Order: sequence, then structure tokens, then C-alpha cells
Amino acid sequence: MTFTIVKHALIDHYITILRDSGTPPDMFRHAALKVSRILAVAVTQDLDTTDCPVETPLEAYVGRALEGMVVAIPILRAGLSLVDAVSEIVPNLAVGHIGLKRDEVTAKASSYFMKLPECTTGATVLLLDPMLATGGSAIMAIDIVKQVRPAGIRLITVLAAPEGVAAVQAAHPDVLIYTGALDRELNSSKFILPGLGDFGDRLCNT
Ligand code: PRP
Ligand code: URA
Repeated sequence: MTFTIVKHALIDHYITILRDSGTPPDMFRHAALKVSRILAVAVTQDLDTTDCPVETPLEAYVGRALEGMVVAIPILRAGLSLVDAVSEIVPNLAVGHIGLKRDEVTAKASSYFMKLPECTTGATVLLLDPMLATGGSAIMAIDIVKQVRPAGIRLITVLAAPEGVAAVQAAHPDVLIYTGALDRELNSSKFILPGLGDFGDRLCNT
């Protein structure tokens, strides 16, 4: 299964705050952080671990430790809202950045920035973008990331449209997609319905 809707009462609660057009920027950022904390736990729950022998104060114990690098790559700007939650829980997280902008008329994404850490090769990549609409931005970002041959890619979104999920699955069937909610459809301007509007603008108060 490459597509997972992360079910959690508090995700529903905080996404409703994100959807509300009356939510001011401070509260929007706060709700985005809360959603991303729950998503971060869910999408990392089956990362590879390896034996890790330690001495408790009482005896020897073989525990588990995370195996391999994890690289978080937010798609600027909106993806930045998901970074803090991931870096809070993933040890020694590396962070790269990809800047993409959707054209307001055509909804086609174009790239304006890219900086990936060298350790991305062979790492598990958590690609962070709260909005999966047409899928154009995610597909472009995955194309970029795959050039450095990561071990696997997980796309973490807050809202997804069926059109975007289908597009990413068709272009990159190996990528695991996670979302907090699957919305109904895109409108004629390629915005998600019911959606929450422009995530980046609401996050950055622009
Ligand atoms: C938004 C969003 C995604 C993209 C999704 O970014 O954060 O990156 O649109 O749309 P798509 O699936 O149709 O490509 P935007 O380009 O508005 O940039 P921003 O984050 O700087 O606001
Ligand atoms: N990007 C957004 O921020 N919102 C949408 O509904 C679609 C793309």
C-alpha cells in the first residue's frame, strides 16, 4: 500500500482549524505544527532499526537504534511547516531544501532552489509538502531527489486531492504517500476542495 491516510482525532481537529478561513496566521502556524507532530510519528513508525546493546543499571540489554540516515526535504515554502516536528523526533536528521513555485495561471511547478545534503544518497528521504494538488510539484521534487539515489522516499502531506495522489502513484509507484486528509477534488484553478486555500500564503502571512 503506497497511500496512507493517517487517522487521528487530533489531526481532524487541527486540520479543521487550518481549513477555517478565519484562522489568523499565528493560530494557523500552531495548528500546522500540531498536525505535523502526529504525522511525523506515523510516517516514521516503521523506519529500519538495528540491534543496540546497552548496559542498564541492572544488566545487559539489546535494544534498537535507528539504522541509516534520514533526510527531511521540505518543498519551499509551505513544506517548512513540517520540518520542526520531524527534527524533534528523528535523531541526527539531515535537512535539504527544494524551492518550487506553482504558476498561478497554469498551475505548473518550476524550480528556483535546490540544496541536498551529500548523505541523501542511500538515505530515507522524508519529502515534506502539506499540499498535494495536481501532484506536479511533488513529482518534480521526487524526480530531483531520485537523481541522488536515496534508499526510499516518503511524501508527507497534510491535504491531498485524488488527482494528485493518482499522478504521483503513476509517475513514482515506489514512493510512499501519507496524508492527514484526502479531499474531494480540484477546482478549475487547481486548488483543493474543500481545502484550506493557499497554504504557503497563510503560513507566511503573505
Ligand atoms: C503549493 C504547495 C505545493 C504545491 C501543490 O506551493 O505547497 O508545493 O502548491 O500543488 P501541485 O500539487 O498542483 O503542484 P506553491 O507553489 O503555492 O508555493 P508556496 O509553498 O511557496 O506557497
Ligand atoms: N497549493 C495550495 O497551497 N493549496 C491548494 O489548494 C493547491 C495548491
